[in-house]
Amino acid sequence: MSELLGKGIRMLVQISMPQEQIRQIQALAPQMRIDQLKRSDARYYEALREAHIVVGWPRVEDLPQAGNLRWLQIAGAGANRYVDVLPSHVILTNASGVFGIPIAEHVFAMMLAFTRGIPQALDAAKRSAWLGYMTLGELFGSTCGIVGLGDIGTEVARRAKAFGMRVIAVKRTLGIKPECVDELRDASELDWLLESSDHVVVTLPGTVHTTNMIDAGRLSLMRPGSYIYNIGRGSVIDESALIQALREGRPAGAGLDVFADEPLPVESDLWRLPNVIITPHVAGSTPQHGARLAQIVMRNLPRFLAGQPLENLVDRYWGY
Ligand code: GLV
Repeated sequence: MSELLGKGIRMLVQISMPQEQIRQIQALAPQMRIDQLKRSDARYYEALREAHIVVGWPRVEDLPQAGNLRWLQIAGAGANRYVDVLPSHVILTNASGVFGIPIAEHVFAMMLAFTRGIPQALDAAKRSAWLGYMTLGELFGSTCGIVGLGDIGTEVARRAKAFGMRVIAVKRTLGIKPECVDELRDASELDWLLESSDHVVVTLPGTVHTTNMIDAGRLSLMRPGSYIYNIGRGSVIDESALIQALREGRPAGAGLDVFADEPLPVESDLWRLPNVIITPHVAGSTPQHGARLAQIVMRNLPRFLAGQPLENLVDRYWGY
């Protein structure tokens, strides 16, 4: 590879990334200047103005200052903040591939908590109350329905299979059915998935196409005793319809990491429903974030420098 690779190019890395990975990125483009700066650093705005490549989640209101920007590699999976505001000549890539493992583990934390009565046990333990016999469920033999089979959905599917669940999924672009999925249908079969699942896992991004996709009518298709989990974007499920459905006990419970408004307002009835597990948009949290994101940057940087198409490209129409 040419020693001159990256000459005149500047990259701003705006998240924490281990130095080892920064060195590896640098080795791919020895002449590129890499600034690793936080928004609070004095030189941040100067670096943002000069940067051709930004890796991180720059504030949307700061983007007009990034006049040299040619490629934005966001640090998250969901690109909803950027799709409409980033000029069309700027390449937008997402961090799909970084969050599948932590989010799938988070989904199973919630699924197992509901199935094995963990919220009730924790609550009783706070009162030093011995609950005695509890009627608990099993994941084994139940059906896990996954809405959206990208990186996250696929990692959920793998784990669901390992728990002995039947795994079904719907996806906008079908492709090849992974081995861990028993039945894969296209997005028009969402109603079938809702009718057929004991645990529905919603992994969809927040786009104009997914807003309120799961509304009152669709929630009413869910099985008695079933559960729904949302780790994609809050806008995908009609939140007031969900609150009403949860009050009526169908679905029996919801594990929610994302909400229509974040932080979830204190007035939201979701806080007061006994059959809801709320986590504060942290399902993707992992110590591997920076190192995994660096792998995407390393795969894409040589392509960017060679003017070739990048991986993880966000489709501005579909919004992810
Ligand atoms: C977080 O929700 C992300 O999109 O990465």
